[in-house]
Amino acid sequence: MLEALVVQSGWNQTAEDWDLFFREGSVFVVREPDGRIGASGAVLPMGATTAWISMILVAPALRGRGLGRSVFEHCFREVERQGRVAMLDATPAGERLYVHHGFEPLWRLSRWHRATHASAASIDELQQADTGFERLSRLDGSALGLDRSAVLAHLSGRAGSRILGHASASAIVRAGRVARHIGPLLASDESAAVDLLEEAANHTAEPLLIDVPDACLQMQDRLQALGFERQRGFVRMFRGTSVPESRADLLHAIAGPEYG
Ligand SMILES: CC(C)(COP(=O)(O)OP(=O)(O)OC[C@H]1O[C@@H](n2cnc3c(N)ncnc32)[C@H](O)[C@@H]1OP(=O)(O)O)[C@@H](O)C(=O)NCCC(=O)NCCS
Repeated sequence: MLEALVVQSGWNQTAEDWDLFFREGSVFVVREPDGRIGASGAVLPMGATTAWISMILVAPALRGRGLGRSVFEHCFREVERQGRVAMLDATPAGERLYVHHGFEPLWRLSRWHRATHASAASIDELQQADTGFERLSRLDGSALGLDRSAVLAHLSGRAGSRILGHASASAIVRAGRVARHIGPLLASDESAAVDLLEEAANHTAEPLLIDVPDACLQMQDRLQALGFERQRGFVRMFRGTSVPESRADLLHAIAGPEYG
């Protein structure tokens, strides 16, 4: 039933994503009188001091009746109960609700999409380095200022997932409901990030998604050259005393709005 909410909103998460929220965090729902799930929300603790709020979804027929606010407030109270800083990536539809609850914007990002594309090669041909996970996890920890190895292990360990990279850049490509998702993509400089993006795109025929900070101008140029189109914006927001000290310059694509 949770998957139906994802389908109705055209989102990309799969049953494995819900499994991760249940295993590593908490999921809240609002049920209709007949027992069906009308709204959802998830809280995923990340590192020692932060928690990510995501999957705030209301069935289209039930929107505008307070369900979104109610499920979001449950999630936020859970983060407060844990004494953590709340973070999220808001869609334009959600931003107003979060501003109302005192969330502040940090930076903006955009979702880029490419439809099915003739590809000469397959992602399975790319070499997965033995040290791929350690390097990815180390770069990710520096980029976000927190350790989310359990989340990265889950995303990269799925059937069909791949860790791509070399000495100065690393990324996960994973399967989704409607498209493959590239992210996180971490690199010590943007030209290394762009090269890895191109490698992933040139080895993928299926539809592709990637969520890129708006500050990454070289990435945007290359996305357009590779046939991607900008779909919509998100804004990274937080509420709490302070966010973890991070190196945003290492982050060239996020893991996804549901994971940060
Ligand atoms: C965003 C979403 C969760 C809101 O849920 P909802 O149940 O419709 O919202 P609520 O009735 O609880 O209203 C919450 C706020 O949104 C406002 N709102 C609701 N529908 C709106 C609309 N169509 N246009 C503008 N504002 C709207 C309400 O006025 C309220 O604002 P306030 O806090 O200033 O009073 C829902 O539209 C949705 O599932 N959208 C698709 C998925 C999505 O984008 N989720 C957000 C992820 S960050």
